[in-house]
Amino acid sequence: MADHAPLARTLPLAAPIEGGPLAANGPTKRVFVRTFGCQMNDYDSGKLRAILARDGYAPTDEMSEADLIIVNTCSVREKPEQKLHSFLGEAFAVKRRRKSLTTVAVAGCVAQQEGERLLARYRELDLVFGPDAVPGIVRMVEASKKAPVVDTQFLDAEDYVFSSEVDPMAQARVSAFVTIQKGCDNKCTFCIVPFTRGPELSRPSAEILAEVRALADSGVREITLIGQNVNSYGLKVPGEKTFAELLYAVAALPGVERIRYTTSHPRDMGEDVVQAYRDLPQLTSQLHLPVQSGSDRVLRRMKRFYTRDRYLQLVDALVGARPDLSLSTDIIVGFPGETDEDFAETLSLLERLRFHASFSFKYSARPNTAALKLLEREETVPDEVAQERLLAFQSRQRVISLEENQRLEGQRLDVLVEGPSRHDEGVICGRTSGFKMVNFPGDISLVGQIVPVVITRAFTNSLRGERPA
Ligand code: 5AD
Ligand code: SF4
Repeated sequence: MADHAPLARTLPLAAPIEGGPLAANGPTKRVFVRTFGCQMNDYDSGKLRAILARDGYAPTDEMSEADLIIVNTCSVREKPEQKLHSFLGEAFAVKRRRKSLTTVAVAGCVAQQEGERLLARYRELDLVFGPDAVPGIVRMVEASKKAPVVDTQFLDAEDYVFSSEVDPMAQARVSAFVTIQKGCDNKCTFCIVPFTRGPELSRPSAEILAEVRALADSGVREITLIGQNVNSYGLKVPGEKTFAELLYAVAALPGVERIRYTTSHPRDMGEDVVQAYRDLPQLTSQLHLPVQSGSDRVLRRMKRFYTRDRYLQLVDALVGARPDLSLSTDIIVGFPGETDEDFAETLSLLERLRFHASFSFKYSARPNTAALKLLEREETVPDEVAQERLLAFQSRQRVISLEENQRLEGQRLDVLVEGPSRHDEGVICGRTSGFKMVNFPGDISLVGQIVPVVITRAFTNSLRGERPA
């Protein structure tokens, strides 16, 4: 099919960040970006908008008027194809109505995974590109006007560019994400990420610190360091800082009042990070530490390389360093071969640790992953059983989240004000160090400040409060 001959191999690799200064007469084209999935996809979508802005594209919320439609996809669970299918239906309707003046692109992890198969399935699709190809967006869009383009190559470490460009959609920001790493070298047997995001690569710490400094100078008070497995930051680069050293270096920058990070792997979290919780008041009391299961048998099959006991010891050490630690986690139920006893271990871990919050999922078989082999050997957990376990876990978690929040009633907590409340006029909202959302009466002039708030009422997912007299 000549009209679908992909250009992947004819496009130069390792395109540097493209686009000159904004055209003098302002933007003339519009880009609509829809993002599914994790914080890495959010970050990539921001980067796409930033690079395209320099080529004269203004971001729009109206797909119907867009010259370029990009859907940034996630394949970590379930059937992402269905979501993509209905989104593309809408996008192609716009393209037809605008007589092909709109370019339609699929980005992200489904694009990386499916590549040319997407072009074969969707004849109106112009462009398919994976996470590493983001910097070349301008060139790819131009090329795709002549023939469809696929770029799903992973770049070598020396060719990969971490970008600091600012997303034009970002509001005047109090809090910002900074990427410290891309990809993942772990091989958790359920996880597709190493296949869609490629090998782990740590961003040079000098670049990270320069970006954080610039953000702090522009008024950002809270920095979230993001990566797939932040605790292994720098370990494979001779002379690079470790993750703990990076935390100390970020905390030393003036203006950085709060530091968060995500996501951690319990195996790689060392005593030096625990120590940072003693030393650095800027490091928040929130910690997201995915455990996945409370059963050693399941953890072994997931190839997580820690036991339930090791996880408990780690949390004990962290609570020793930071008594008000607000711990959250990720849980998978229904992993191949998971028995009622295994699941009971997961529930008992929830009772023992009383996670403040958790994201819990039914196991979803993903292409290429090692767990597919387990499915051949192990008993598959029937969907009704997995669903029952999921509901049981979630309903217990909701009760615990509410009880943990109720313990905060009457306490005076520091809240970083983020903006107006979505629901009530005259009410503003912000987060505590433990990442609890607090709504309280106040003026938006407080945005960006850390103010004391007395908690008056707890809900499952938020708190209400008032400023002390
Ligand atoms: N099935 C279900 N949940 C998954 N996750 C990752 N892969 C799968 C899968 N195949 C969950 C894990 C991870 C979170 C981001 O998504 O809990 O921590
Ligand atoms: Fe996936 Fe495991 Fe890597 Fe997390 S650490 S991205 S779960 S392979």
